[in-house]
Amino acid sequence: MPIKWDSRLSVNNHEIDMEHKLLLTILNALEIILRNPHEKESLRFFIDQLMESAKEHFDHEEHLQIKCLFPFYEENKKGHEALTAELKEIRNEIYRYIDDANTSQEDADNMSEKINHVLRDWLIDHIMKSDIKMKGFMNDAR
Ligand SMILES: [Fe+2]
Repeated sequence: MPIKWDSRLSVNNHEIDMEHKLLLTILNALEIILRNPHEKESLRFFIDQLMESAKEHFDHEEHLQIKCLFPFYEENKKGHEALTAELKEIRNEIYRYIDDANTSQEDADNMSEKINHVLRDWLIDHIMKSDIKMKGFMNDAR
């Protein structure tokens, strides 16, 4: 089941909301590809895309938080560091799978199950527990 963005995830800042939607779209694409992980080049493209978009988004969010004197900046930044470290581990695992020429269906299933499980909560938890505090501090800031 795809993860759907809804208004409960809104931080009342249009640009940040749009970036969160983009990240969820990439996560959903990755989940679909992980069902057929023999498409190794698509897998590489989407995990790289997720990594790049997440980095750009975290940098942008932190920049706006400083500009708006967001009081939970440090806590949010630490969250971004943890998410980035987790994503790097996932990317390494996917790369190992892609670069192994002898992967079996069982390897594919095991990797998909494990990674899908992590990706499901990877961003949503951060948005709902930490980013949500931006509500009221950064409305319409760009
Ligand atoms: Fe954040």
